[in-house]
Amino acid sequence: MKTRLHRTTVTVLCLAAWALAAGQDSGTTLKQAWEKHFLVGAALNPNVVSGKDSAAAAIVKAQFNTITAENAMKFGPTHPKSGEYNFKLADEFVDYGTKNGMAVIGHTLVWHAQTPRWVFQDGEAKAGRDTLLARMRDHIMTVAGRYQGRIHGWDVVNEAFDDDGTLRKSPWLNGIGEDFIEKAFTFAAEADPKAELYYNDYNVWKPEKAAAVIRLVKDLRSKGIRVDGVGEQAHWGFSYPKNGELKAMLQAFREAGIKVHITEMDISVLPNPWDYQGADIGKRFDELPGTNPYTEGLPDSVQAKLADRYAELFGIFLEYDDIVERVTLWGVDDGHSWLDYFPVRGRTNYPLLFDRQYRPKPAFDAVIRAAGTGK
Ligand code: XIL
Repeated sequence: MKTRLHRTTVTVLCLAAWALAAGQDSGTTLKQAWEKHFLVGAALNPNVVSGKDSAAAAIVKAQFNTITAENAMKFGPTHPKSGEYNFKLADEFVDYGTKNGMAVIGHTLVWHAQTPRWVFQDGEAKAGRDTLLARMRDHIMTVAGRYQGRIHGWDVVNEAFDDDGTLRKSPWLNGIGEDFIEKAFTFAAEADPKAELYYNDYNVWKPEKAAAVIRLVKDLRSKGIRVDGVGEQAHWGFSYPKNGELKAMLQAFREAGIKVHITEMDISVLPNPWDYQGADIGKRFDELPGTNPYTEGLPDSVQAKLADRYAELFGIFLEYDDIVERVTLWGVDDGHSWLDYFPVRGRTNYPLLFDRQYRPKPAFDAVIRAAGTGK
């Protein structure tokens, strides 16, 4: 009897601890704390969607009201070969979001990365403008068309600019010309007239890039082409962007009448001797001595620094909540962050709001407090 009672107590305690860790306690959740200001979301991988990663799935249901597929809706996974589409993971993701009443973000239709080689080839030669435009149109009509009416917004074009504000020399630009962007937006509006349409990039806070993106949106709008907002990916660090730089970006978009989405937020806590600030997935560095210092856990001082950084950034989003529509974190928990393999493979990073045991971190509490509600 005594053993049984004891076992029950232990079970109850374990369940309570797990529920707390999964954000199921009665405390304020992220989506509640920020509901008057903007949507709060996360990028999901297939194990979260299927429920195999049940702890992450519980966090998502409790905490977030918008979701993005970390990879499942990209060109490579959905359209691996000419004429061959594969929608298994994308369908499961969109169904999951729809069922749970979340704003589902489509990411992404036109990007130079994670796009198969065949798209840009014509046999041995490079595909020409007409072929590329036909492929782009077919891809957008098929993918965005499939989910018509179920997607809150699409990242139509991803990362078309370099940091200096010139157009990236991508195969889309090289093959089609500068109007590849407006063509993509035109096709997307046709494929899903109700979905919001975004231009998405990293380092939009760099002034030359912000200016270029604003010029692009104004130019498209002047031609009657719909662009509903701009995504800043927000793969950031402790020292960048400076708060003043972020505010200057948000101010510029406010003055231009353009809504902003913070689309892929994470804050790297690891040393960055390369002084690399971008998120170009083709970029890799070799590990240097001392650049992977927290393999055994994050010291309290760094944990606190991360919480402060999240608090100040969300404080700025709050100041600009008239134009900030959404903040999406690029992952749920530290154990599944792409920053463990970017821009250096095999490090241990701590960039998100939940730790490797799925427990809310001090950064989570800081984000809740930054809204001025609860806790
Ligand atoms: C990343 C994913 O997180 C990784 O799993 C994948 O291996 C590479 O792409 N900018 C984007 C995202 O727009 O799609 C990228 O996601 C991160 C940088």
